[in-house]
Amino acid sequence: MAPRVEAYRAPARLMHWLTVLFVVSTIPAGVIMVQEGLSRPLQNSLFIWHKNIGVVILVLVVARLLYRAAHPPPPLPASLSPGQVRIAGLTHWGMYGLLLVMAVSGYVRVRAGGFPIEALDAMGVPPLVPRSDALANTAKAIHFWARFPLVLLILMHVGAAAFHGIVKRDGVFSRMWPGRA
Ligand code: HEM
Repeated sequence: MAPRVEAYRAPARLMHWLTVLFVVSTIPAGVIMVQEGLSRPLQNSLFIWHKNIGVVILVLVVARLLYRAAHPPPPLPASLSPGQVRIAGLTHWGMYGLLLVMAVSGYVRVRAGGFPIEALDAMGVPPLVPRSDALANTAKAIHFWARFPLVLLILMHVGAAAFHGIVKRDGVFSRMWPGRA
């Protein structure tokens, strides 16, 4: 059984697993929707899902950062070396940063390109960037390239979590698992 290690608070764990759910569905949707030969209705549905959930991810990441500033994460167990703690910190901040880059560049690509974001349009939120093909193309390139380091960090993060949860069983994984007090 894993040793008792102080867990993240419930709101932090909820926001973490919602981010997982949304990111894990947004990345494949983004990759599939730009493929040639898709039926129009499928492509439209994927675009609508991708754009609107992408905005939800942006809001969620900002909320997580604000919550984290008010409630710093519990310390990692002393069994981790300073190097491991440092790599974990760099991975976490890298993921936050790249999620923000992906979400903001996606937003700018769509708004500067003059396209709708259905949920924001329904709420009457106006575009926050001007219509500009040059801006849209720059944002498109950033959106295309930033996914590679993001996916790399996600794989490192999942690998480390699995290593702690399955091999080491040192309580690090269960800090973020739902249902811990
Ligand atoms: C963290 C959130 C996001 C992630 C991880 C993400 C990921 C991706 C990925 C992997 C692609 C495929 C890139 C390609 O193969 O060309 C893509 C494409 C795209 N994404 Fe996102 N995205 C996010 C947020 C957004 C947001 C908020 C919007 C707009 C509101 C958006 C709009 C688009 C568009 C329009 C494309 C098609 C690219 C093009 O050809 O213009 N994304 N996204």
